Amino acid sequence: MMRFGGDTSANAHFQRSDMSIQRIQITPFSDQKPGTSGLRKKTEVFQTPHYLAAFVQSIWQGIGGISGKTLVLGGDGRFFNDTASQIVLRMAAASGAAKVIVGQNALLSTPAASNLIRKRGADGGIILSASHNPGGPKGDFGIKFNAANGGPANESITDAIFEASKTLDGYDILEAEDLDLSQIGETQLGGMIVDVVDPVADYAEMMQGLFDFDAIRSLFAGSFRLRFDAMHAITGPYATALLEETLGAAPGSVINGTPLPDFGNGHPDPNPIWAKTLVDEMMGPDAPDFGAASDGDGDRNMIMGCGIYVTPSDSLAALAANATLAPAYAEGLKGVARSMPTSCALDRVAETLGIECHETPTGWKFFGNLLDAGRATLCGEESAGTGSDHVREKDGLWAVLFWLNILAQRKISVADLMADHWARFGRNYYSRHDYEGIDAAAANALMDHLRAALTDLPGATAGGMTITAADEFAYDDPIDGSHTAKQGLRIFFENGARLVFRLSGTGTVGATLRVYMESVETTVLDADAQEMLKNVIAAAQELAQIEDRTGRTAPDVIT
Ligand code: G1P
Ligand code: ZN
Repeated sequence: MMRFGGDTSANAHFQRSDMSIQRIQITPFSDQKPGTSGLRKKTEVFQTPHYLAAFVQSIWQGIGGISGKTLVLGGDGRFFNDTASQIVLRMAAASGAAKVIVGQNALLSTPAASNLIRKRGADGGIILSASHNPGGPKGDFGIKFNAANGGPANESITDAIFEASKTLDGYDILEAEDLDLSQIGETQLGGMIVDVVDPVADYAEMMQGLFDFDAIRSLFAGSFRLRFDAMHAITGPYATALLEETLGAAPGSVINGTPLPDFGNGHPDPNPIWAKTLVDEMMGPDAPDFGAASDGDGDRNMIMGCGIYVTPSDSLAALAANATLAPAYAEGLKGVARSMPTSCALDRVAETLGIECHETPTGWKFFGNLLDAGRATLCGEESAGTGSDHVREKDGLWAVLFWLNILAQRKISVADLMADHWARFGRNYYSRHDYEGIDAAAANALMDHLRAALTDLPGATAGGMTITAADEFAYDDPIDGSHTAKQGLRIFFENGARLVFRLSGTGTVGATLRVYMESVETTVLDADAQEMLKNVIAAAQELAQIEDRTGRTAPDVIT
């Protein structure tokens, strides 16, 4: 553990005796089961007396206590971020943590938090975020624990946290004034050191080590124009520092760059629906050469070129195919990984490169073991998450810099790069249809019905296509041997098309049904995805009776 010099221990002793640790008795909460990415609830649920504190105490228990440990703490700045940070700090001090490294004003993007945990050798970290979900008093809040490798806690830990929460009868908290987290430097809270750090500096330094900044600078020194929409979320300060101040993109290239507690009343999810202003600009006259956006906590990305939207699955495949153009990956990739619903475009690249391609359940936590073991260098999800072994989270701005590095080397437009990619590997047309906030019982009944039908599907037809195989995806982790069941229903067709159904694990109201559709083309490479997928869309309706069972005639979100 870290040792602290000077007179801090005497000081600590004085302060500890001056501040008292309170044991607050509570009745346990029954609904603190972490989902795809930590615990997410309506903000007002987290504001219920003792709710957040109970979960934090369950984390301490689930990870075997925090006595003498060093943690990283930060969040995406949404409403309640500041209050929650103070509670976490006072609880960490009460339970004997040695040190908490916290981003200035309790801000840290998720990838920056992951980096800090790794770089400072911390024992783990607490990230306060509900990612791309809207924030504010009526919006969502969330909290998750990341382990010493910088990645989201695996299921054995999240299960232990949930178990602890079910019987928790109280929590410990230091009685103390709120700390001023606006000043960089070390302070003391009881016997614990609080180290307030610049949230951007370490992250920016890491990016500089991964990419060819000179090549990107020369891109911006020419006529290349960029638009980055930070969606009033956490990435604003990171993007402004890196893209404008370090790499020379024109001032104003970063828009909506000031993080706001309610994200400017927006929905900080970088997709064509919620980043429509950016899409309109990129598809309009005189569009910039490159467009990108990131989400609430900075781990997601959307990539666009002049007149083109690149699906996250295609972006992942294109990054893999061109990876050696970036200094960090010049030696080649050890392997790649994608979540099951992500399109198989990546598999085609991996096959050509002769490297392993892993298929994991939805959620970043499943990539951690592969990255740690050196079995994968790049990984990604169809939900706008792309990342590599540089941290243990997906990383929005990293993806943007990676693309810029590749474009600077290849001296080619985004549209031409994708046309070239599809000509070489074929194109996986892809779309996800989301039915949000549907009745949970109806959603479960739909899944149960389809699950029961799976064994009889091979040989049958749907949407005019013959089904070759159908199953429920389960994953055996090749590193720790853990088994994860019930990860989505898959239906494969003879023409290479694929259909996947699963229920969201991050929603906070009712259930969200996600339907993922994909078809493979080697000749028609420049058509509309919804048009190319119309048979697969028809098959989804036929097989799952979506309209009859949910009462919905159309998806809420199509990406
Ligand atoms: C969604 C995405 C998933 C991602 C997660 C956290 O989870 O689909 O890929 O890892 O958010 O960002 P879901 O709501 O589908 O469970
Ligand atoms: Zn996110």
